[in-house]
Amino acid sequence: MIVSEFVPKPYKFILDSGSVAYSSPSNIALVKYWGKKANQIPANPSISFTLNNCKTLTTLKFEKKTTKGFSFEVFLDGIIQNEFKPKIKQFFERIEVYLPFLTSYHFKIETSNTFPHSSGIASSASGMSALALCLVQLEQRLNLEMTKGFFNKKASFLARLGSGSACRSIEGTLIVWGSHTNIIGSSDLVGIKYPYKVHPCFNNFCDTILLVDKGEKQVSSSVGHNLMHQHPFATKRFEQANENLTRILKVLKSGNLPEFIKIVESEALTLHAMMMTSMPYFILMKPNTLEIINKIWEYRRKLNSNVCFTLDAGANLHLLYPENEKDLILEFIKNELVAYCQNGQYICDQVGIGAKKM
Ligand code: DP6
Repeated sequence: MIVSEFVPKPYKFILDSGSVAYSSPSNIALVKYWGKKANQIPANPSISFTLNNCKTLTTLKFEKKTTKGFSFEVFLDGIIQNEFKPKIKQFFERIEVYLPFLTSYHFKIETSNTFPHSSGIASSASGMSALALCLVQLEQRLNLEMTKGFFNKKASFLARLGSGSACRSIEGTLIVWGSHTNIIGSSDLVGIKYPYKVHPCFNNFCDTILLVDKGEKQVSSSVGHNLMHQHPFATKRFEQANENLTRILKVLKSGNLPEFIKIVESEALTLHAMMMTSMPYFILMKPNTLEIINKIWEYRRKLNSNVCFTLDAGANLHLLYPENEKDLILEFIKNELVAYCQNGQYICDQVGIGAKKM
């Protein structure tokens, strides 16, 4: 499948060498992407908050070469990372048709994350989007006519081919990816900015990430997504995600936080239920994940709070809450939840507006 809109016209000139740099944030899905078709097309639409503090900073140095094929090296915090190479090579293979200059250069990819390494926080969304943005920035240098709108669209399109959720990290604060009947402009190919008015209670919405388990993932997302192919509940799940998106549209407009909580927590638990009921099956939550969930439910009942949790494909929790509850929730975290976090670690974040050129 080649999407001709993103295949460039022949470049007028080529640069010999140089460097480009981008920072790109992570994002947290409210309605989850779990299951995909060929060519990184999602089985259902998803929506996420773009984060602000958890990001990847990437510098891409390029130098003209005459040899054939791809040539690149990757560094994380200054240390060479050969284990990242297969994923990046696969990414380059998928996007070469859209960036024909890829084989003309040797690349040095220097990357670092603002969140602790191996904290169990998914870095593929921020990492792949930062790399995609660097590549589009390089292309913009070869094609000066590119508009800002097309720049972001192409970056999201390419990022998706690196890692699906990465296409939701280019802009903020709310991004929809995957076509949905009630969302104008929504597309399976790119993430789009949420096109409707959002209730002010979602301004500066907070996300505190509780690090319960920093270990290596038992199952990669790609393997997890693939397990949805023979999954007994797949069809129903994809329908449910579409319905939850319809429901969350109303909530984002009205600011109905109790309803928001129901959708977000149900999405998180459904994601894990899909993993538990696939073959092979996985339990990615840890005992402390459940301890924290119970504490949150108890706290919410007692204090009438609007805090809720969501999960990615791992044991860590994201606590989502409105800014006006920040002080109380941080007290609650310190007093009651830190004890369940590995080395007492948690990360304070909030919604953000997307990637930045460095
Ligand atoms: C559980 O985007 O990491 O975080 O496309 O295979 O790279 P690939 O998958 P990835 O999947 C993330 C899934 C999730 C839910 C979500 O972010 O929507």
